[in-house]
Amino acid sequence: MCGIVGYIGHRQAADVILDGLKRLEYRGYDSAGMVVSPQGANLNLVKRAGKLGVLAEAVKTTPLKGTLGLGHTRWATHGKPTDINAHPHLSEDGRLAVIHNGIIENYLPLKKQLLAKGHVFASDTDTEVLVHLIEEHYGGDLVAAVRAALVEVSGAYALVVFHADYELIVAARATSPMVIGIGKNENFVASDVPALLPYTRKVVFLHDGDMALISRDEITVTDFVGQVLEREVSNIDWDAEAAEKSGYPHYMLKEIYEQASVLQQTFGGRFAANGSDVALDLTLNPALIDRVVITAAGTASYAGMVGEYLIEKLARLPVEVEVASEFRYREPVLNERTLCVVVSQSGETIDTLEALREAKRQGAKTLAILNVKGSSISREVDDVLYIHAGPEIGVASTKAYMAMLAAFELLAIWLGRHRGTLSDERAAEIIRALRHTPVLIEQALESREQIAQIAEAFKGYNDYLFLGRGINFPTALEGALKLKEISYIHAEAYATGEMKHGPIALIDDDMPVVTIATKSSLYEKTVSNIQEVKARDGIVIALINEADEEIKNHIDYAISVPETDELVSPLVNVVALQLLAYETAERLGLDVDQPRNLAKSVTVE
Ligand code: F6R
Repeated sequence: MCGIVGYIGHRQAADVILDGLKRLEYRGYDSAGMVVSPQGANLNLVKRAGKLGVLAEAVKTTPLKGTLGLGHTRWATHGKPTDINAHPHLSEDGRLAVIHNGIIENYLPLKKQLLAKGHVFASDTDTEVLVHLIEEHYGGDLVAAVRAALVEVSGAYALVVFHADYELIVAARATSPMVIGIGKNENFVASDVPALLPYTRKVVFLHDGDMALISRDEITVTDFVGQVLEREVSNIDWDAEAAEKSGYPHYMLKEIYEQASVLQQTFGGRFAANGSDVALDLTLNPALIDRVVITAAGTASYAGMVGEYLIEKLARLPVEVEVASEFRYREPVLNERTLCVVVSQSGETIDTLEALREAKRQGAKTLAILNVKGSSISREVDDVLYIHAGPEIGVASTKAYMAMLAAFELLAIWLGRHRGTLSDERAAEIIRALRHTPVLIEQALESREQIAQIAEAFKGYNDYLFLGRGINFPTALEGALKLKEISYIHAEAYATGEMKHGPIALIDDDMPVVTIATKSSLYEKTVSNIQEVKARDGIVIALINEADEEIKNHIDYAISVPETDELVSPLVNVVALQLLAYETAERLGLDVDQPRNLAKSVTVE
């Protein structure tokens, strides 16, 4: 949550920062600010409530000159999104600037102490406590002052600081992510890699408890007491283009359209030459586990639910799925024969990270399905299965979900083959279907016009019901979540067979019912459920297979997607539901890429 960009080098810092913030706006977009140090003079600060565009306009009229600066795009936690509460925060003498992501948990007692010492606070934020605390300790040595302040602070944070007296950025990390970009006679710091892509691919991911001293031509990483630490320099293989809209009106739409090629990346080199196995680079020994627990948040947890169906079917292991925010607090029962799979695009979601830590504490084997390399989860887990989805900028996750599903397909086949529960023939059949999926996704995208007409017809409705069963129950959950997130229309999802146990009371001609009715082992039962909805004057929008003419007699609107193996169908079906959410939000004139109240990568509880 919240984006940080810092620059020290030979370019105008304001240009680099604004450009970087644009790439990080998905991390928070309720206010933004920037501070630049013109050598020797007092710091120049501009900050505004509202989206980044408001700041960009303000910077046009107040150009900020200087080659050292910090910028922030905020997702408010403490204090409303106002000009004053926006970051950076300056000290009372205007010479010290601080930006902070995360939460300072003990800010109230600290604020009380600082007020008693005569400090005057301007904002309602927890961050401002840091400014006054560093100022309180400042006796001419900035680094020593930051260290002394951090000793008194508790919470999860990523912090960047500079002082008008120094040509230096001081960064510190406790839980919230932070990455340093290494350039030539210039260096960068950011909360997330996309901000750095146009400038450098050489990065250092800070670990928890790291502090970095960043000057134009040197980077030193230490712990909080000053002990120098060795940190690996990683090369990022994402291209800058991948973080651009490339002609699409929204990142989300671009990412929906990228899904066929993302799948090729996820599968890349992982199918064995014999056509009936997969090769995964894991240290895990499947013979040593007898149970799987999958935990994640939001969309990633729905990918986990598809994983549950796949692993149980193909590898015959018992699987449980639970959202990480619940899992971590309920003293789950795990042991060394449990495999805990955590799923995360960002690798930084605090609930998922803490769930992983809980699993490790209990001695479980751990595996992460992840997108972002160098992320916190990647550093703590035993094994990683990267999904290779590239940077996902749209706040509503689409291509990462697709790649997570693909990763679960691979994992389930791998486990099934190792455990002897999946035959050569069935493995080959699923792998053939998976290889063909990119083509089917392209075909599913051709339904966009059909979907747009449905979105137009129902954009004014207040409630939607999504139904799906079997391996497509999670698809219904994901479809409802996408619609809620970006169109703000209330949408609930149920397992189709559950409808009779309650939700059927809601059915009337005011609530469209989106039913996943593609060919499956439970197809006939789904058709019966559709008839139950129709008998109560419900409106049925059904996701059907192209060749299924018969079902059209029972439904009001059809969205056609190509048929595939039932176990692979969630990958194809979800595309139509992503488009339905997108087309609806578009028609309602909403900001698809930056839905209200949301931020990508939730690093606070
Ligand atoms: C929904 C969405 C969120 C994330 C969730 C987990 O579109 O993006 O529900 O899926 O916050 O995020 P990661 O995968 O980064 O752990």
